[in-house]
Amino acid sequence: MVKRFGEKMWVLGIESSCDETGVALVEMQIHPDSAPLPVLKGHALHSQIAMHQAYGGVVPELASRDHIRRVLPLARQVLELAACSLDDVDVVAYTRGPGLAGALLVGAGVACALAAALDKPVLGVHHLEGHLLSPFLSDSPPSFPFIALLVSGGHTQLMRVDGVGRYKLLGESIDDAAGEAFDKSAKLMGLAYPGGPLLAKMAAHGNPRAYDLPRPLLHSDNLDFSFAGLKTAVLVQSQKILASWGVAAFEALPESVQCDLAASTQAAIVDVLVKKSLKALSNENLNRLVVAGGVGANAALRSQLNAECAKRGFQVHYPEVHLCTDNGAMIAMAAAMRLQSGQQKANREYAFDVKPRWPLDAL
Ligand code: KG4
Ligand code: ZN
Repeated sequence: MVKRFGEKMWVLGIESSCDETGVALVEMQIHPDSAPLPVLKGHALHSQIAMHQAYGGVVPELASRDHIRRVLPLARQVLELAACSLDDVDVVAYTRGPGLAGALLVGAGVACALAAALDKPVLGVHHLEGHLLSPFLSDSPPSFPFIALLVSGGHTQLMRVDGVGRYKLLGESIDDAAGEAFDKSAKLMGLAYPGGPLLAKMAAHGNPRAYDLPRPLLHSDNLDFSFAGLKTAVLVQSQKILASWGVAAFEALPESVQCDLAASTQAAIVDVLVKKSLKALSNENLNRLVVAGGVGANAALRSQLNAECAKRGFQVHYPEVHLCTDNGAMIAMAAAMRLQSGQQKANREYAFDVKPRWPLDAL
């Protein structure tokens, strides 16, 4: 890197691990003492949700093709927003994994081609590290150390975070992720993909105590989660409800009944997430919690965590709601924070690879 300590650098970040194409620019400094946090200068996002909805879930091949179509126009949009040109970019970062192999290859390929053409270094970023560090883009960034609750469509993990790149896995889901539990339950209720946000909307109008659904591993000694049984319990419960109302389809039930089941399902997931997060804080003797990933946008999870943490004098930090789900800003931010912390150097090796499976604590 040609820039000196204290000089401003621009990091372009590209996210393409699943069904969102995201591009962002952050400005950062490398300083021998303590550099200020990187600042987001612009980001642009295209969600493929509408395209995948017809199939009830993400179709990997369609996802890859759409990333190809979107990524360069989004990059142009971001450069315009930040009023700069490609020549101003100092480092090109991309999501290296985990995620869909074909989708990752699009972001990696474009990032490496851009960097090679500009003769600038590249840096591959861990998608979950992006989520984990995304609260540093908020108005109330956390400080280290903290417990991170990572709740996305593919992962549910509790980590102890002592600094950038210093992650210890404390517990994780042994089967479905929390986002999957939301989405699969929502599908049973006839909601479109991804059902999590729609289920949450209905839940806001329902009674969370209407139906007694299981809270798996709630009282286990460890910090692991298990959500696979919940969808079966939701299925059994909804069959009972349909029989009692004498109707065949969930949509034919009164709206209040649908909302009650949604609220009870959400409560079962949120209860477990909240209890295990508090347990992790107490086990590690820490008083700061960071929540990240798509399910971190859930209002019930936020209000329950806020209330429980306030009672105990703990701080809880979230990304901005629009940066909870996948985006390029978190990838540019994670790259910038890795460079600042000296955890990683960007390089000019443009022969990229991607890591569809990649544990975060292996970083
Ligand atoms: O982090 P993310 O965008 O993608 C992955 O990396 O997996 O998370 C997507 C997940 C989906 O399962 C989606 O249903 C869930 O986050 N989600 C929500 C909400 N918003 C997104 N789940 C519950 N309530 C929400 N408000
Ligand atoms: Zn994600």
